[in-house]
Amino acid sequence: MAIAEILSDRTSLVKVEHMTHEFRSGRGKIVACDGLNLMVRKGESLGLVGESGSGKSTAIRLMQRFMRPSQGKIWWQGHDVTRWSERRLKPYRQKMGFVSQDPYGSLFPNRTILGNVIEPLIIHGIAEGPERMRRAEALMDRVGIAAIHQQVFPHELSGGQQQRVAIARAMALGPDLLMLDEAVSSLDVSIQAQIINLLQDLKADLDLTYVFVSHNLAVVRLLCESVAVMYLGRVVEFNRTEALFATPRHPYTKMLIQSIPRLTDEGVSALPEDPGRGLIGENSGTGCAYAARCPLAVERCLAEAPGLRQLPSGGEVACHQAK
Ligand SMILES: Nc1ncnc2c1ncn2[C@@H]1O[C@H](COP(=O)(O)OP(=O)(O)OP(=O)(O)O)[C@@H](O)[C@H]1O
Ligand code: SF4
Ligand SMILES: [Mg+2]
Repeated sequence: MAIAEILSDRTSLVKVEHMTHEFRSGRGKIVACDGLNLMVRKGESLGLVGESGSGKSTAIRLMQRFMRPSQGKIWWQGHDVTRWSERRLKPYRQKMGFVSQDPYGSLFPNRTILGNVIEPLIIHGIAEGPERMRRAEALMDRVGIAAIHQQVFPHELSGGQQQRVAIARAMALGPDLLMLDEAVSSLDVSIQAQIINLLQDLKADLDLTYVFVSHNLAVVRLLCESVAVMYLGRVVEFNRTEALFATPRHPYTKMLIQSIPRLTDEGVSALPEDPGRGLIGENSGTGCAYAARCPLAVERCLAEAPGLRQLPSGGEVACHQAK
């Protein structure tokens, strides 16, 4: 995303500038996020896509300030929160809900469903007694959990119902922004569709904005206005959703879009093979990180890492060969 636009922004819900995060372990250093520039404006949901290990979850954990970045800045509603304490972050956290891939793991197993949804209201001192109860019941109703299920425990619900409860809990404090990390990935396809419908309805009815992390581009297409494609910690393509699907520019984005299974007369189409026939340089670490897999790789790709650049047609891409 254009850094000049990000630097001059004062209206976003969340933005990150040059956000970088390194993990250190016995095996050395892993750069999970490498100089990300992203911005989320109200009503402009952002999809973060990319294969496993591309840094999507790390990016949203940093955006929520569950971790501090090694470098770069994080802004919430015009405030630089990069170094803020947990106490100072608390009122802003109310404006940001989170839904994970594992609904059961995100709920308290020893509390009823209603107890799970009431808990954030208690922690943040919102409403009291019967009013608090009414708010929680209204949330459950909104996400389609029948009254009969509100006094049961999480393990007594199906995965789809658990994810509905997790969404209700994430919305309990009236957030402007919901961060969803692979929120439908673990569900059966038919249940996925129901949860996507619910998220579409909530977005429209409550003016919610999402940061939606997924390896599934088809789902992102249904929920997001723009998409950032990540590869090994970097954004390699950013564009409005429809433009990205109509004319993907980066070879990796093209491969991801071609990999979306489609229904044909013969059944579900087979996934194309990862081309995996790029160039391998002598000095790994220089050049484009995608070169070894890229069918368009040329010598320049091994010598020079491409930065994100704006295309005349709109959008941004990090690829020497993209037009
Ligand atoms: N706590 C950690 N300690 C060390 N390395 C980590 C840690 N968390 C993530 N990583 C590494 O950082 C990189 C990015 O991981 P991340 O979980 O952000 O990717 P992801 O895109 O969310 O992947 P997935 O689709 O599998 O969820 C990976 O190489 C991962 O192994
Ligand atoms: S810079 Fe070169 S190797 Fe990298 S994606 Fe573009 S063509 Fe492929
Ligand atoms: Mg992840």
